[in-house]
Amino acid sequence: MPEATQPTRRAFLAASALAAISAPTFAQQQLQQRQRSRRRDPGGGPVVIASGNGLRAVTLAYQRLMSGADPLDAIVDGVAIIENDPDDMSVGLGGLPNEDGVVELDSCVMHGPAHRSGAVGALRNIRNPAAVAREVARRTDHCMIVGEGALRFARSLGFQEENLLTDKAREYWLRWKASLSREDDWLNEDQFDLPTPNKPRSAAPPSPSGRGPGRGVSDVDREVASNPAGHIIWRDNIPYTTGTIHCSALTAPGGDLAGCTTTSGLSWKLPGRVGDSPIIGAGNYTDNDTGSAGATGRGEAVIQISGARTVVMRMEQGDHPTDACIYALELIARKTSAPRLLDGQGRPNFNVCFYAVSKDGQFGAACFRGERDFAVATSAGARLERCATLYD
Ligand code: GLY
Repeated sequence: MPEATQPTRRAFLAASALAAISAPTFAQQQLQQRQRSRRRDPGGGPVVIASGNGLRAVTLAYQRLMSGADPLDAIVDGVAIIENDPDDMSVGLGGLPNEDGVVELDSCVMHGPAHRSGAVGALRNIRNPAAVAREVARRTDHCMIVGEGALRFARSLGFQEENLLTDKAREYWLRWKASLSREDDWLNEDQFDLPTPNKPRSAAPPSPSGRGPGRGVSDVDREVASNPAGHIIWRDNIPYTTGTIHCSALTAPGGDLAGCTTTSGLSWKLPGRVGDSPIIGAGNYTDNDTGSAGATGRGEAVIQISGARTVVMRMEQGDHPTDACIYALELIARKTSAPRLLDGQGRPNFNVCFYAVSKDGQFGAACFRGERDFAVATSAGARLERCATLYD
């Protein structure tokens, strides 16, 4: 190195000190991330937000709003794209089933201007529960219909019945059943083949836990990447999901709001289990004076703090939507005490994300952890943005 370009010790120390000052601490990085997430649409048009699997939903809902649609109709049309997608294993057709291998769907909607809501829980055989929930709000004096009653209600309105269990979801269900074989009479997949004399058994690649057939990490990554809001955890090559789609819309700053959440819920759940998604105030809540919010992730935790209502209440008290989401996550963290739900640092070992839009057009989303995106459509276009996080 030429002498002139060699740093002197003084220059080196000065540069190090400067680097130390300018390198953001973890807390500063978190703050910067939240500030980046404190967005507002400068265009003054509609704002539609959704979980990360909802890019196509916000795109369509935004177009509908620009054509003058009611905000609830716009988002129910938007989420129907995801409900109809057999490759999204967390919603509608193709959702992962309950422990009996039956897909049971939950959804609720809330219309801001009318302050009316509708919900269906544990609905079978109908791929668009959000549209059925909207009919509960429109056509009945009730807020929620579940199970057989919800199916009969949908049938009476002409919704088509079909088997929602796709071949792929059935395969995962069978894999999950097989994984129970330590406790019951089902065999593991690696025990299926009958040993044939003189035929060498092919060795299955090891799985991370040593149980079940192995699958390349890249396969797992690909599946998770294809389901960005999926809340999917792979264990022994079996997907476990609490994935969902939430979508909220604002017609224009100062305008009308609506919210909708729809899901196949927790995979392998007990038949009849209902999560947060069809519960007004938990998985979804809209107040036309303040804002709209919703949740994805572990529904039990969201129910136990009235998650979406908490987020809207914080916006009512002046929080930016991102901060309101963070507040609700902190509340879950404070209230979670069961050791089976905590990591080594005493933090919730599951994930939850909240999404919110305020009456004046600000929006944001936050999760406990992970590089998760949310979808948003404004006059600047439809896009994915990174959720803020409470932890790293
Ligand atoms: N958040 C979806 C569920 O827990 O069912």
